[in-house]
Amino acid sequence: MEIKNILVPVDGSEGSDRAVAEAIALAEACDAKLNFLYVANINQLAINACLSDAILEAVNKAGNVILDRSMEMVPSGIDKEAFSETGSPAVVILDFADNHDTDLIIMGSRGLGVVKGVLLGSVSQYIVEQSKCPVLVVK
Ligand SMILES: Nc1ncnc2c1ncn2[C@@H]1O[C@H](COP(=O)(O)OP(=O)(O)O)[C@@H](O)[C@H]1O
Ligand SMILES: [Mg+2]
Repeated sequence: MEIKNILVPVDGSEGSDRAVAEAIALAEACDAKLNFLYVANINQLAINACLSDAILEAVNKAGNVILDRSMEMVPSGIDKEAFSETGSPAVVILDFADNHDTDLIIMGSRGLGVVKGVLLGSVSQYIVEQSKCPVLVVK
């Protein structure tokens, strides 16, 4: 299996940080490119019913901080790019994977969710079940 493009969905959680570290190690070994993707979860925000410009801007800013942090962890010499999208994270991540020649997805088993004691979060579970390409779930 040739690994040229690795998709790393990031949400700023500890699990996602561990996934970034693993992805960097693998990218170094395979000379692969890292594509970091943050998805602003608009569905969840819409529950609050007031999707003001200020809220959207705050969410985008938070995403950029998370993406910047991931990008800064990557040693020079490894190809990398940061992407920000809005929507339902699981669906957007799979769409992105399909459209960017993704050979492997590396993600955390858990994210920012508050429910503990479950092996997989809702996003990682959906991706593992539905992805067409291999998925590495970092614990
Ligand atoms: N909004 C998001 N944008 C990008 N990646 C995400 C997003 N939410 C979760 N992920 C990825 O999915 C992994 C598992 O998170 P998730 O399934 O949401 O667990 P939890 O239910 O604990 O939040 C994270 O470590 C991260 O890699
Ligand atoms: Mg989550």
